[in-house]
Amino acid sequence: MEVRFSISFLLDIRYNEKNEQKEPDKMITAIWAQDKNGLIGKDGLLPWKLPNDLNFFKSKTMNGTLVMGRKTYEGLGKRSKAYKKIYVCTRQNELPLYENAEIIHSPEEVLTVEDLHVGGGGDIFRLFLPYTDVIYRTLIDAEFTGDAYIGEIDFSDFELVEEIPGVLDEDNIYPHVFQKWVRRQ
Ligand SMILES: NC(=O)c1ccc[n+]([C@@H]2O[C@H](COP(=O)([O-])OP(=O)(O)OC[C@H]3O[C@@H](n4cnc5c(N)ncnc54)[C@H](OP(=O)(O)O)[C@@H]3O)[C@@H](O)[C@H]2O)c1
Repeated sequence: MEVRFSISFLLDIRYNEKNEQKEPDKMITAIWAQDKNGLIGKDGLLPWKLPNDLNFFKSKTMNGTLVMGRKTYEGLGKRSKAYKKIYVCTRQNELPLYENAEIIHSPEEVLTVEDLHVGGGGDIFRLFLPYTDVIYRTLIDAEFTGDAYIGEIDFSDFELVEEIPGVLDEDNIYPHVFQKWVRRQ
């Protein structure tokens, strides 16, 4: 007898297996800003100047723990020292890190961490997506040049629960909205 499984059934199993590794009370959020074309970075930094979004990022992450890709960490430079703890995702065994940072090679190493925020880039968001409970995405209604893109993120397991327009002023000239997506129960 031939036994067939649908792809969605297999994905459900994968998701459930992954979720079982995470303690239910451990919240993982992903947070990023993108332009109209999904651009997120330029030369290791952000392509735009939008203090509103930086403040939003800090307000969500400053008291928790961050996990990010090696390139994003390098782009932060000394500013990373302001954070309590940063896990840097890399395939390398050694990296020059500040004292508040630690190397990891996979999400499974940080699933027991309290209040974990995934800070990108694109591959790292995808790597952590099966464990992610909440996504904060800032959509900037403008086009910039750069070299790092968010890529395809599957929102089908998430529901848009909040969309708040950012306030524009002389320092924040690009229209933007702050979206909150929550994993469907
Ligand atoms: N707009 C935003 O909200 C936002 C958010 C985040 C980042 N950014 C920007 O995006 C740019 C950097 O993003 P990026 O996507 O180019 O790089 P990234 O994700 O920060 O770092 C990529 C590195 O992460 C490590 N990595 C990737 N997949 C891995 C895996 N499966 N297992 C272990 N390690 C893995 C590798 O490090 P090794 O090469 O060391 O092995 C890889 O080279 C910067 O310009 C940054 O400012 C913007």
